[in-house]
Amino acid sequence: MIEYRNLRVALLGAGSVGAQVADQLLTHRDELAARIGAGIELAGVAVRDLDAPRDTAIPRELLTTDAESLILSSDIVVELMGGLEPARTLILQALTSGADVITANKALLATHGPELFEAAGQVGAQLYYEAAVGGAIPIIRPLRDSLAGDRVERILGIVNGTTNFILDRMDTQGESMEQALATASALGYAEADPTADVGGYDAAQKAAILASLAFHTLVPADAVHREGITEVTLEQVVAARKAGYVVKLLAICERLTDPASGVDGVSVRVHPALIPDTHPLAAVHGANNAVFVEAEAAGSLMFYGAGAGGIQTASAVLGDVVSAARRHVVGGPGVAESTHADLPVLPISAITTRYQITLLVADEPGVLAVIAALFQSHGVSVETVQQSVTPADPARPSGAASAATLVIGTHEASEADLAATVAALTTSSVVHSVTSVLRVEGL
Ligand code: NDP
Ligand code: HSE
Repeated sequence: MIEYRNLRVALLGAGSVGAQVADQLLTHRDELAARIGAGIELAGVAVRDLDAPRDTAIPRELLTTDAESLILSSDIVVELMGGLEPARTLILQALTSGADVITANKALLATHGPELFEAAGQVGAQLYYEAAVGGAIPIIRPLRDSLAGDRVERILGIVNGTTNFILDRMDTQGESMEQALATASALGYAEADPTADVGGYDAAQKAAILASLAFHTLVPADAVHREGITEVTLEQVVAARKAGYVVKLLAICERLTDPASGVDGVSVRVHPALIPDTHPLAAVHGANNAVFVEAEAAGSLMFYGAGAGGIQTASAVLGDVVSAARRHVVGGPGVAESTHADLPVLPISAITTRYQITLLVADEPGVLAVIAALFQSHGVSVETVQQSVTPADPARPSGAASAATLVIGTHEASEADLAATVAALTTSSVVHSVTSVLRVEGL
């Protein structure tokens, strides 16, 4: 066997994920070399602050603030800094210099992916990003390679660890969103700016990446319908549990025909939803993720595991390091991304699903009939109605009608019809307030 030279790996970032990648590379250096067929050397680690306290085995002399020089002397560049800049510029420099690049940066990929893939294609380098979606879960390779001969119809999943952790803590321990988010940040799950997590931006970026791969179509992050969990209340989570549901932040990517225009396209959305407590996604606890893929020939596949966390995510990054290093040894150009289908991304109004609407109404004769007529007039079919009397409000003027809470479950309805129904409910004289509108998935 021909001896291959040592491959030099540049690491950009030594935070939650980067520090773990460095430690694993240093600890398992010989075993990784045996798998690759070449030695692998951590050439350096770029950070912002050389003196920041670090719980890692990285030798001090490997740390540098000069990322550019480090890149230019490396075969493989691993970007784990996060953010758009300077990550984008550094990755472009690395690719242009012929290095393979590994990144976990979904924000960057979902925003500047085409530019980066184009740069990689120009020089025959490869951009790997298994860790960008689902943390430790292998989902990028299955979609890009294993299912490349099939036709993916739908993806449904939990793709953000932080929000799943928060909703799970609210559900199982009655914690507030703020309490749970503080714990998720301390555990290294949350993004540097956790608005990316709770606002649904991170999940939308991941949904864009998954949809692009699955449907061979470029789906930019800003084409994804996005609702975060900031409006989800502890009351909603508790009420959902009582009614046999769990609240989860879901990412749903599907092929669809827009009923309004007849156009075939794809729909990609991220929003909180109720799922039955018997559904497998209801058993996804903590920072775990789970992704269901439905493909024409393969049928239903489920991918499950740690969706965030330094060491767990390092596993996916190191898998990419080994792949990139093997490609160096074996040779051959990188594989281009496939966007040949070029399907339109449809608006949220194109979807149909079930909904649960919670209303505070006047507890008077005839109210139910008025509300039922309102649903009917907008073409939304009611499946279930539950009424409970709301405890007396001491501030209520004597003689004023008492209030009741109505929880209405619908059959499948279009998003547009549902929106019109909710708008009419909001202005109806018998409705005090619309307290919650949630989509119901997984039935
Ligand atoms: P951290 O914020 O913990 O770490 C970021 C690291 O990058 C730090 O070491 C920081 O240096 C360094 N850095 C930031 N900006 C610069 C810069 N301009 N120049 C040099 N170094 C810089 O991030 P994470 O490890 O949590 O995340 C890294 C990436 O991985 C992100 O893209 C994230 O979305 C993604 N990801 C994270 C997961 C997780 O569970 N945390 C899971 C999957 C993906 P210093 O230490 O000096 O501040
Ligand atoms: N902040 C992200 C999450 C990290 O919580 O899922 C993993 O991508």
